[in-house]
Amino acid sequence: MDLFEYQARDLLASHGVPVLPGGVAETPEQAEAIAREIAAPVVVKAQVKTGGRGKAGGVKLADDAESARARAQDILGLDIKGHVTHRVMVAQASDIAEEYYFSYLLDRSNRTFLAMASVEGGMDIEQLAVERPEALARVPIDAAVGVDEQKAAEIVDAAGFPAEVRDQVIAIAVQLWDVFAKEDATLVEVNPLAKTPDGTVLALDAKVTLDENAEFRHTEHAALEDAASANPLEAAAKEKGLNYVKLDGEVGIIGNGAGLVMSTLDVVAYAGEEFGVKPANFLDIGGGASAEVMANGLHIILSDPAVKSVFVNVFGGITACDAVANGIVSALGLLGAEATKPLVVRLDGNNVEEGRRILAEADHPLVTVVDTMDGAARRAAELAAA
Ligand SMILES: Nc1ncnc2c1ncn2[C@@H]1O[C@H](COP(=O)(O)OP(=O)(O)OP(=O)(O)O)[C@@H](O)[C@H]1O
Ligand SMILES: [Mg+2]
Repeated sequence: MDLFEYQARDLLASHGVPVLPGGVAETPEQAEAIAREIAAPVVVKAQVKTGGRGKAGGVKLADDAESARARAQDILGLDIKGHVTHRVMVAQASDIAEEYYFSYLLDRSNRTFLAMASVEGGMDIEQLAVERPEALARVPIDAAVGVDEQKAAEIVDAAGFPAEVRDQVIAIAVQLWDVFAKEDATLVEVNPLAKTPDGTVLALDAKVTLDENAEFRHTEHAALEDAASANPLEAAAKEKGLNYVKLDGEVGIIGNGAGLVMSTLDVVAYAGEEFGVKPANFLDIGGGASAEVMANGLHIILSDPAVKSVFVNVFGGITACDAVANGIVSALGLLGAEATKPLVVRLDGNNVEEGRRILAEADHPLVTVVDTMDGAARRAAELAAA
């Protein structure tokens, strides 16, 4: 789960990282009130879960409370890379002498954690990483050891932080590791980590991604979820315990097992090229494909107005094909008039003959059984285009 900047800032502050005071506003009037409270000048910053806000006009300085309101007016509603701005953060403005970069992340390809740091932070860090990678220090971190003062010093020296901020940055590096480890984050990024003219180092912008697999350890993280902008179908699926991701195509997909569903997406994307259609979602109904689970899955997919056909691709294992076939038949019964879109079903694996017999016998007008995965994908794509 990605956090908004204001949430990330609060999280960093709760672990002792120095940040500037500020608040979050949904209207220009609220922005003005916050600016009055913390005493202008302030910066007004779009709260959207994407990078490059500054370059998109989403970060503006305001010298007094009235202009904070005007800047908030400009920024609220602004579309930044497809993310509409519904909130702004109003934070105390700081003079900046230098901008640094500091992050911890999960380095999947090397199966480790990684610290990245640079004394050339700011809005062009992506460009720096490409053009002069040597200016961005990369230090692997042993998960079992973490970052103590000594490790922090190693990172800080690898990046070449100037002597006058070295101790401050080491302390912040340890605090940021505390955030990373204790909050179960997969990313903690501060850019810029700024030095003010009087030599104080502060986190002026933070990005945090929390590991959803660790949710059970952090009941308090549920409050950080952005229910308002979550896709309503994804929210409904989550409530039912289904593994569903909305995509932007026309062919609904249901399968059992994440691997099978991923390859189903591939074959549908491939077959769909000819007909100009794509997969509409990822939905893994898992091992126990009971009638109820199947009905819940179909219900979610059929409520997506973009869906024109559905491909049910099941490989019978412990839950055999006959149970899945019965699941499909009773799910269609449960859904009744709600089921209006054609279903292409491909069954294989344990007890497949019996599964196909059950579907043939039920002879539901919306259901077509196709024996091969490629054939079924093609038929589903064709029906979606019809
Ligand atoms: N509180 C502040 N006071 C003064 N200047 C600030 C403050 N916050 C940000 N800035 C300036 O604005 C620039 C952009 O801000 P910020 O880093 O928050 O956005 P961004 O980097 O464009 O967004 P993103 O991190 O989403 O790519 C910073 O590099 C910094 O120069
Ligand atoms: Mg930034």
